[in-house]
Amino acid sequence: MAITGLVLMVNNYIRKKISRRFTGVEQMVLEARTPSAGELIAKFQDIPELGIYLHIPFCEQFCPYCPYNKELYHPELARKYTLALKKEIDFYVNIIGKRPVTSFYIGGGTPTTMLHTGMKDIVEHMYKSFNMRCSIHMESHPNHLDQKNLDSIRSLGVKYLSIGVESLQDRHLNTLKRPYTTEEVVKTVKRVSGQGFDCVNVDFIFDLPGQTYAEIEEAGQNLVNLGINQVAAYPLFRFPYTQLGKEARSNGRAVQTMFRRRRMLRILEKIFYRSGFERTSVWAFTRQGVSKYCSVTVPLYIGLGASGGSYLKDVFYLNTFNVAEYIRAMEKSGRATALSIDLTEKMQMGGWLYWRIYETRFKKSDFKERFHKDIDRIYGRYLKTFAFLGYLKDKGKEVVLTDKGTYWLHAFEDFFSIDYISKLWGTSSRNPWPERVAL
Ligand SMILES: C[S@@+](CC[C@H](N)C(=O)[O-])C[C@H]1O[C@@H](n2cnc3c(N)ncnc32)[C@H](O)[C@@H]1O
Ligand code: SF4
Repeated sequence: MAITGLVLMVNNYIRKKISRRFTGVEQMVLEARTPSAGELIAKFQDIPELGIYLHIPFCEQFCPYCPYNKELYHPELARKYTLALKKEIDFYVNIIGKRPVTSFYIGGGTPTTMLHTGMKDIVEHMYKSFNMRCSIHMESHPNHLDQKNLDSIRSLGVKYLSIGVESLQDRHLNTLKRPYTTEEVVKTVKRVSGQGFDCVNVDFIFDLPGQTYAEIEEAGQNLVNLGINQVAAYPLFRFPYTQLGKEARSNGRAVQTMFRRRRMLRILEKIFYRSGFERTSVWAFTRQGVSKYCSVTVPLYIGLGASGGSYLKDVFYLNTFNVAEYIRAMEKSGRATALSIDLTEKMQMGGWLYWRIYETRFKKSDFKERFHKDIDRIYGRYLKTFAFLGYLKDKGKEVVLTDKGTYWLHAFEDFFSIDYISKLWGTSSRNPWPERVAL
């Protein structure tokens, strides 16, 4: 117990030190403030293009490991949510104007719960209201992919579809409380693969309780045999506010966990590479020649819906997580922002670097274009050190993360981002309108 306390203290100290170095502030604090329409219009003056994230916060049942904002699906609630979302779209029409929307992602929760209770209405309203210059990337649940639903999904304009498969072994599907068998989910994925989507992604969670290396090998091979275009392989993250996170209090075996995950990831990488896949983000492996399924790709974006987050250069703001409160606020004032934070240039640069590395490569000229500064002058010594350690390759004009670097980014994500996410999302799911959240 005393050792666990000490480890937590040391971890917090390291987190704070890294955070201070990259943000320049003691602590990042989000406060209950809503950027006005006037402020947003002014920001959009020099935003040439943007992305849109749309959150569908409904699921038919909850999985014990899941950190995302969600409530139980109810058709009546979904209809009210549709009206509220349309109001939020209307709010942004005058702010965004005709600027091209070049990336559109529908996530959840489970977007496919609303396929017949509002989704078409929402998407049509978006395409009428904004200058949409992209096709849709959407998440889906395996149990929602019969032929009728697949036809609806395609007719929405979804070209990139992700399926939350999670495991191809019944005992692990049981642990995760997923409501299907391996045989059923394999049939579903094979059906989806033949439907003409530009990219079909399968989500896969590894390092499940008691999972063996032989099981990882078998699952990796079965994944590539499914005929899909992409696999997103995540280690099981234990968010402290989820059921699984509460049950799995730190067992003091962080180092063993790190090495086990690393070995599992190596097994998967080997199988994916020899089967013609390449790494396209920290988590994702995509078949060569296929354009990847991914979340919003442009650096600046707005988030619609309960828990939608927006990042517009020097401000980040977040809608309330509570669906009833989101609907009520939209009806009352047309806004549902719960928290926001103004970002210094140092924070913006740190955030930019984090997300570009997450995509495993970036051009130095993109940094210059965004911040009018030379990246080597700001982060040169870090780039040099990490290149020396073999974590990245500095190719002069471009920086590329190596497989070794990717693994350590995994570990960093587990250590760092999960702490931030747990504070922000954990507080927001308990309290619809927090006064402040300190990260
Ligand atoms: C919103 S869900 C996908 C769509 C749908 N709701 C479903 O579950 O099929 C997003 C994905 O995040 C991943 N995920 C969720 N919780 C996770 C956790 N604790 N650790 C690792 N991956 C997780 C899963 O792979 C999941 O498919
Ligand atoms: S993993 Fe998917 S289905 Fe399960 S609770 Fe999370 S969003 Fe819902």
